[in-house]
Amino acid sequence: MPTLRDLLASRLRDALAAIGQDSSRAGISQAADARFGDYQANAAMALAKETKANPRQLASEILSKLDVSGLAATPEIAGAGFINFRLEDSFLSERLSNLALDSRLGLDLIQNPKKIIVDFSSPNVAKPMHVGHIRSTILGDCLVRIARFLGHQVIADNHIGDWGTQFGKVIYGWKHFLHPEDLKSDAITELVRLYREVTRLEETDETVKRSAREELVKLQAGDPENLAIWKQTVDLSWREFEKLYGLLDIQFDERLGESFYNEALGPLCTDLEHRGIATTSEGALCIFFNDPATLEGKPAIIRKSDGGFLYATTDLATIDYRLKHWHPDAIWYVVGAPQALHFQQIFAAAKMMGFECDLQHIAFGSILGQDRKIMKTRAGENVGLAEVLQEAIHRARLIIANRTDQLPASEAESTARLIGLGAVKYAELSQNRLTDYVFSWDKLLAFEGNTAPYLQNAYVRIRSIFRRAAEPANPRATVLLNEAAERALGLKLLQYAETVPVVLEEFRPNILANYLYELANTYHTFYEACPVIKADPANRASRLLLCDITARTLEHGLGLLGIGCPERM
Ligand code: ARG
Repeated sequence: MPTLRDLLASRLRDALAAIGQDSSRAGISQAADARFGDYQANAAMALAKETKANPRQLASEILSKLDVSGLAATPEIAGAGFINFRLEDSFLSERLSNLALDSRLGLDLIQNPKKIIVDFSSPNVAKPMHVGHIRSTILGDCLVRIARFLGHQVIADNHIGDWGTQFGKVIYGWKHFLHPEDLKSDAITELVRLYREVTRLEETDETVKRSAREELVKLQAGDPENLAIWKQTVDLSWREFEKLYGLLDIQFDERLGESFYNEALGPLCTDLEHRGIATTSEGALCIFFNDPATLEGKPAIIRKSDGGFLYATTDLATIDYRLKHWHPDAIWYVVGAPQALHFQQIFAAAKMMGFECDLQHIAFGSILGQDRKIMKTRAGENVGLAEVLQEAIHRARLIIANRTDQLPASEAESTARLIGLGAVKYAELSQNRLTDYVFSWDKLLAFEGNTAPYLQNAYVRIRSIFRRAAEPANPRATVLLNEAAERALGLKLLQYAETVPVVLEEFRPNILANYLYELANTYHTFYEACPVIKADPANRASRLLLCDITARTLEHGLGLLGIGCPERM
């Protein structure tokens, strides 16, 4: 169904056209301050500025042709020429009746669906996932969920780092100091140990360094023994990654890691050289860019003078494959901000190669520890995703155990997971992705404030109302909006549909998170002001229905963030 904003915009468009003004300027936004109404338009100001007209006068001209009957009261002009709208209660009530019956909560499928590849998570084999991978995993999954729900065709591709120089060290370590038992119990930790051990030895021992490099060369030349070891490290690591994805309820459609493109790198370089896109400079094959603003003097090296390929080479082969194989409209790379230059380069190179595709680097900042430095373990190492998740669940268990309503053991455990994992995901998704955020257990697990437990608890409290009411909401009940708190809640619920799509405009899940937080607050005010169960039958039915739509919206919105809701907590 069209959103409130769409309906007002369409009326405004008609009015602008009627007075010969540019109707594409009929933008409507939610009012920042409820005292001035529900929505506002600044079209009069924007248009008057261009023609040097008087904005308030233009606003009243627009009003003379603006027909909002059935939607809103007569609009008012305010300030320098804002047009303010206040929706009619009867209209809101009717829309809420439609919303009550809509399983998509007012969110239509998108008109022009796209095919989008989302490249996210992408951890490296034999290296631990670090906080950058945590952010990519959570953000990427959320964007996949939202894009899919809106109707886009999405391919979630985990571009794992399963090929690269680390394997020289890992294979050398494997052959000399592998602990098979540890490999069995915790493969990633053991592989990382090998990697670190060899790195340490290399510092003082030239022969180790040489041998590790030889192992790498042998692997690249297809030596069967080394290939077999490599394959085992990839399989074992993937099994561990999958456990984490399972815990996080995250799925991928493809897992085409770097190794998948290995065979294509040589031919790609030759081709780019032939086409004059790449040129040799000091023995290395490079792509030079003529984008003076950003990339001048920053060529991308795609083949080193010793013949080795680089990260950029793999990414170009990946674009080549993806475009020829899937013909996507867009590729979204959810990767940390430090790789910004890399993506600028490969996007510019892709253009030179003649590819037309909307390529987006969806960057994010760092997670900081309490000391405001990049989060590390006490030993100074990167914090692994597995440890963070286990700690979150553990802390949630303790919180639940201390609450008055004791849950049966099996429910307590699943609830602890929903709360712990939800808290970690929400801490990520409620932030502006580009800012660094401080990771604080107490804050993200708090039941008050902009946190997952607060939102889950709002949901749980509504569910408990229904247990007490001992009847479900009647979706056909008339929605009454006599109290200000009821009206505010009803309006907020109707705005879900115009909030979710905005997330994809700039890839900002925090817009949805903030909406859900405001919804929970609005609900809280409603709950304080309006008795539900004790109300007279008409108000009771109306309020139960508002409660029910609120619960559905919270559950659905959290679901789009990848967060589940317990029934009790
Ligand atoms: N494995 C890389 C890393 O850990 C991330 C890969 C991102 N995707 C890509 N197509 N480059 O930094």
